[in-house]
Amino acid sequence: MKMIKAAILGFGVVGSGVYEILKENASGIAKKTKEEIEVKYILDIRDFSDREDAHIFTKNFDDILNDEEVKVVVEVMGGVEPAYTYTKAALLAGKNVVTSNKELVAKCGTELLRLAKENSVNYMFEASVGGGIPIIRPLATCLAANNVKEIYGILNGTTNYILTQMFENGVSFDDALSDAQRLGYAERNPAADVEGFDACRKIAILSSLASGKYINSELILTEGITKITKTDVKMAAKLDCVIKLIGYAKLDGEKVFARVSPMLIPKSSLISGVSDVFNAILVNSDFLGEAIFYGRGAGKLPTASAVCADVIDCVKHVNINRSFVWEDKGTDFIVSADNTENRYFVRTSDSSLMEMFDGAELVGEENGEIVFVTAKTNEKEFMSKAKGKCEYLRMMD
Ligand code: HSE
Repeated sequence: MKMIKAAILGFGVVGSGVYEILKENASGIAKKTKEEIEVKYILDIRDFSDREDAHIFTKNFDDILNDEEVKVVVEVMGGVEPAYTYTKAALLAGKNVVTSNKELVAKCGTELLRLAKENSVNYMFEASVGGGIPIIRPLATCLAANNVKEIYGILNGTTNYILTQMFENGVSFDDALSDAQRLGYAERNPAADVEGFDACRKIAILSSLASGKYINSELILTEGITKITKTDVKMAAKLDCVIKLIGYAKLDGEKVFARVSPMLIPKSSLISGVSDVFNAILVNSDFLGEAIFYGRGAGKLPTASAVCADVIDCVKHVNINRSFVWEDKGTDFIVSADNTENRYFVRTSDSSLMEMFDGAELVGEENGEIVFVTAKTNEKEFMSKAKGKCEYLRMMD
């Protein structure tokens, strides 16, 4: 059987998972690729000299770049640099690149996808959204005959794990976050998870893919989970709702709106029961209607399984560009959050605030704070009356 050589950049949680799967399921994978995959190099700055396979570790990217035998490079380092420099160099050298690096895809995907196309190789990023859940390929290929109207869901495993542990199991925020780090769910800097940036990059990737136009993640309104309290959860339950961090995108003709924020989700919604590290992504398109993609959204082997699927695809199409594309069309088509309408769930110690919203309804009182919900209100109007005077969550209807 023929042999193809691969390299892994970064031997962290995902990188070690990729290596494990490629070794453990080598024969099963070879049956599908008709070629055996040998990991010839692993790039990592740490010392692995006491390992049996120490000879494949290198600290020098040029070893990989200059080796013509290496056809597939797995970039699982995370972060923009040096991942960007290495990815660009590998694509220009005619090597396929597979990644789980949502930060890099969200920031530089337009250029890297173009370079892959120009060099007849692939830049694949199935693992960048939803961990092990198939979502990139289904969106780009299985739903290709549809116009996607809406994509939303739970896109971050760490925050979903933290919210579940805190509010269903009574664990503190810090302990829940430590557990998420120990389990390999959290980003190196967990602020990316808890402040919503990771989910923001993921909804940017999904909406870019669905619209064919680059959505810059820096333009997406992003709010995290750090201000949610027990009172919020208790009052949400009174409204028959749960609180989840939601990535949301609406595609309306040429216009695209995207946002990441914690929301009240009715318990009747399909995604309300999604707990722990699980993600669920709902795609609403014109011919299919609603489809939901559910599974483990983070963690070593689930994420590595999506990376390995891309490796297999690359091995089967070494010099055939199959990667998906979007184009940079400026920003005029992006709808500002100011122009959206929402019902707001408001917690405040300023009891006069409720009077400023016609049709507002009291949910309850606790610890010197009142909680009320507004009628549908324009976001700009809501912010002008309420910002700085309360904590708020949007409600999903
Ligand atoms: N930190 C990310 C999450 C990892 O928790 O979802 C998977 O992208």
